[in-house]
Amino acid sequence: MRDITGKTFIVTGSNRGIGKVIAKVFLEAGASVVLSGRNSERLEAVKLEFEQMGFSPLAISADLTIPEECKQLVNVSVNHFGKIDGLINNAGLPMRGRFERISAELFAEVINANLLTAVNCTKIALPELIKTRGSIVFISSVADIHGLPNASPYCAAKMGLRGFSESLKMEMHKHKVHVGILRLGFVDPPPDKTVLRDDGTYQPVVSKGHQSQESAARAVLRMVKKRKRRITMTIPGKILSFVNWIAPWLLRLIVTRMQYSMKYNRD
Ligand SMILES: NC(=O)c1ccc[n+]([C@@H]2O[C@H](COP(=O)([O-])OP(=O)(O)OC[C@H]3O[C@@H](n4cnc5c(N)ncnc54)[C@H](OP(=O)(O)O)[C@@H]3O)[C@@H](O)[C@H]2O)c1
Repeated sequence: MRDITGKTFIVTGSNRGIGKVIAKVFLEAGASVVLSGRNSERLEAVKLEFEQMGFSPLAISADLTIPEECKQLVNVSVNHFGKIDGLINNAGLPMRGRFERISAELFAEVINANLLTAVNCTKIALPELIKTRGSIVFISSVADIHGLPNASPYCAAKMGLRGFSESLKMEMHKHKVHVGILRLGFVDPPPDKTVLRDDGTYQPVVSKGHQSQESAARAVLRMVKKRKRRITMTIPGKILSFVNWIAPWLLRLIVTRMQYSMKYNRD
């Protein structure tokens, strides 16, 4: 198990949600953390909150779909801390809705937020991570196992992330860079959690999740420390993965039926 004390990690999408909790868990474990997100007000508020807890994170606002802004994120981080030991590709955009109602623009936005952000950041941080034999972690979802109804762009993006991470893992073997992918189940939403709908509006999420943000964040830390390649979280996630492996036809049948239940449609 590797000690992360004194190591530097960029956590994308850490001005709220799971990314914020990942940043906190890494700070508590003794790492230096770079916080990031587009909304600079929220970013500064999170930075202040962590400073009041006695930590000294760096906060850099960036839209990671834009390569120039990723470059800025990586360069400022390296100038400040001298190196990067890990990149946690957490930024994403959850979305629910039926494909026939989703505009081409919305579909592209979801792909860009979930896939392109990670590709851009990884591309730019890679030379630094090769120098430190660091870690690259992709925060994915059980949506990368099998397509799910009402989530076509999200599934497409997370499956793309899985393919990208598998290729990268093999290419990075000779450089001894760790590449891991963490499949989260449905995480307990904070009170202000919203999800993008097919009409382009953001709606609150009300359902309780299958795991806490803290357990998701601890799994990321475990993945980095043990240099694990893949973790699938939650019992439903593990069942989904197993059934997809032994009988994908059965999984298709169950999920197709499930989409008509009220619980499934709620958020
Ligand atoms: N919540 C769940 O149940 C669940 C389940 C499985 C997987 N996941 C995955 O876990 C990750 C975090 O989820 P979450 O629920 O915490 O999401 P969230 O609350 O919606 O937070 C998403 C984060 O990503 C940032 N972000 C989005 N687009 C960005 C862009 N173009 N450039 C830079 N930052 C961007 C957001 O900040 P700004 O908006 O300020 O940019 C925010 O900090 C995502 O990858 C998600 O797919 C979540």
